[in-house]
Amino acid sequence: MKNILAALLAAVMLLSLVSFASAEGIQTIEAGKLTISTSPDFPPFEYTDDNEKIVGLEPDIMALICEKIGLELVMDAMDFDSALLAAQQGKSDAVVSGVTVTEDRKLVYDFTHTYITITQGIVSKEANNVTMENLKDQSIGVQRGTTGHIYAEDDFGEDSVVAYDTYTTAFQALMNDQVSCILMDDAVAKDYVAKNPGLVMNTTTYEPEDFAFGISKGNTALLEAVNKALDELIADGTVQKLIDQYMVD
Ligand code: ARG
Repeated sequence: MKNILAALLAAVMLLSLVSFASAEGIQTIEAGKLTISTSPDFPPFEYTDDNEKIVGLEPDIMALICEKIGLELVMDAMDFDSALLAAQQGKSDAVVSGVTVTEDRKLVYDFTHTYITITQGIVSKEANNVTMENLKDQSIGVQRGTTGHIYAEDDFGEDSVVAYDTYTTAFQALMNDQVSCILMDDAVAKDYVAKNPGLVMNTTTYEPEDFAFGISKGNTALLEAVNKALDELIADGTVQKLIDQYMVD
């Protein structure tokens, strides 16, 4: 009996050593925790369930990554613009919010490897049927600070664009005909269309966009640990399995 107890104790000590060792050398804003900023209006990437809990593809991937590197996952919900800013200012360890890798953003974050690629889509009421061809004549709803916002303003000018803090308010505006369409990531557009009868999505000719997690700049130990864990989850098929589980086709 004593031997069994001793063996158990040794095993427990070894296990705690292993998890300690894996998080060793990683500095985060709160020791032992990985604090991420996110805008949970972006199903299936991140959204809130009936109990206001933040769920989705990215929280699932992050939870698995945190398990591997021995950190506790803490998710702070805010508007997308603020989620970007939090990581840029070192108030969160990373922005995990369906973030597209862009040249400008590379200057302020250390991006992890990419795990999915999407393109922009246009959501409108069926009757409006907005397409890439007639987009220039529309009032375009976007989420502030997103790539959709940047494209719409660059191509059609500020006056054609209405920016909202969340997609929740952007979709309310679309339903109330305050804008005639929303320019946004197609994978998320599909999710909203599936849940809101009367809406359609059309494809665009914008460049494909790579999604990654934006680690607060200069935290190389964290970047490397997250990348290693993410690579493993991609290689063993876990990420693809989660994508298949969450995506509306
Ligand atoms: N992929 C787009 C971008 O990076 C939109 C992301 C919006 N994310 C969100 N959770 N609302 O600009």
